[in-house]
Amino acid sequence: MSDFDLIVIGAGPGGYAAALRGAQAGMRVACIDERTTAGGTCLNVGCIPSKALLSSTEHWAEFTSQAEYGIESDNARFDVAKIMIRKDRVVSDLAKGIAFLFKKAGVEFVNGRAAIAAPGRVSVGDREITATKILIATGSTPTTLPGVAFDETRILSSTGALALAEVPQRLAVVGAGVIGLEIGQIWSRLGAKVTIIEYLDRILPGLDSEIAKSAQRLLAKQGISFTLNAAVRSVAAGDLVTIEIENRSSAAVETLEADAVLVAIGRRPHTAGLGLEALGVKTDARGFIEVDAQFRTNIPGILAIGDTVPGPMLAHKAEEDAAACIDALAGKPHPAPDYGLVPGVVYTSPEIAGVGLTEDGAHSPGRNIVVGKSSFIANGRARAIGATDGFVKVIACPETGKLLGGHILGHGAGELLQELVLGLRLGATVGDIVHTSHAHPGMGEAVKEACQAALNAPATRVRHSPA
Ligand code: NAI
Repeated sequence: MSDFDLIVIGAGPGGYAAALRGAQAGMRVACIDERTTAGGTCLNVGCIPSKALLSSTEHWAEFTSQAEYGIESDNARFDVAKIMIRKDRVVSDLAKGIAFLFKKAGVEFVNGRAAIAAPGRVSVGDREITATKILIATGSTPTTLPGVAFDETRILSSTGALALAEVPQRLAVVGAGVIGLEIGQIWSRLGAKVTIIEYLDRILPGLDSEIAKSAQRLLAKQGISFTLNAAVRSVAAGDLVTIEIENRSSAAVETLEADAVLVAIGRRPHTAGLGLEALGVKTDARGFIEVDAQFRTNIPGILAIGDTVPGPMLAHKAEEDAAACIDALAGKPHPAPDYGLVPGVVYTSPEIAGVGLTEDGAHSPGRNIVVGKSSFIANGRARAIGATDGFVKVIACPETGKLLGGHILGHGAGELLQELVLGLRLGATVGDIVHTSHAHPGMGEAVKEACQAALNAPATRVRHSPA
């Protein structure tokens, strides 16, 4: 008999959720991770520490601009070491929480680097453990530019950029994606001169372009510089970092000097060393493991979820994969995950959030859409709390009124979006949302107003397919 029913490799939001759900379904489960604590990238060096630092620095940014509210903040100062201590405490408290849940559910946590010796057999250091099923949930690692290696001192990945001992005077960021904006804002708020270099002519590709454009304008107003449409030709690190940037239109080359550079140009599946090639596990051209609707790879007994398989590379998507995968193993019914309904949130201030179709992405041949918008400047609560930047945008089908997408820029956008995520999931119409009571005064009234605007939208607001 095998040692376990299920071995989960990786204890991130996908892996630990799968391990717990497996144990709750009565499986004997081991969860292996090379970190000594569970939580993966998200908890240890990603989502959670970045949100802790965004929170500390948001307090600082707000505290030093309180005069409008009648509050003086003379002699205010911050202490980077204490900010980092708080961040580490938030992380370690949550890690203890997972350890407690593992213990309570009877999941055996194994610390070490795992490799799959054969279906059913996993080696961790000198130890070999066996299981009927092996689930790969090893997440992803940051990509870097060709020939540029992370040293986490001058050339930073998100891991290094979330653990700096002091504020760099000048921080260059390559990539105006989620990580670049969030971490750029953290250090910008503390006084770093932040320049974000982006290959495309816009920030946040994949998000609604109108929302992204407004977000860029607001972030620029806060002091973050953007160099768009720019290809990084070279990065040289000595006492300083020197970056050669080529304008992709004019081919003009400029040199940027900085104290450190954060390279945040995406992530790739973290599967090296697992032995996938020897096993014959199929991967696609970008290295993602190919799986079926039940997260089974082509090799019987080996499954994969989260960032190792195609789909949005997000913690909540990994967690949903985990639930669907384990329920399938346990023979329980579970709706297939719909990646088109996975929300994305950028936790900058103002926050940026989106789900479903974007306005620019909605123009597939033959599709008509109607767009409704509402600005927070017209919202009573937003006025009262001083959060008037941003707007809500909904996209709906003009014939049925069905919601197709929702995009929010503004204070608490991620939480406000959740109503639209549920609406999309349930096949709601914009009328359903308009007829839902929204408490007054509330930022959520802007969501209702945007849906009302979509209902009222004149024919000229109906965008026809350019095809
Ligand atoms: P990203 O895919 O969000 O953004 C990468 C950016 O770099 C893009 O704008 C891309 O056009 C640009 N880029 C690519 N190559 C470039 C080059 N050579 N020069 C200049 N720009 C270049 O990736 P990011 O920010 O590294 O994040 C990685 C993953 O982590 C994403 O899947 C993201 O969704 C996830 N994440 C999610 C967070 C959240 O949900 N709040 C927070 C942090 C990360």
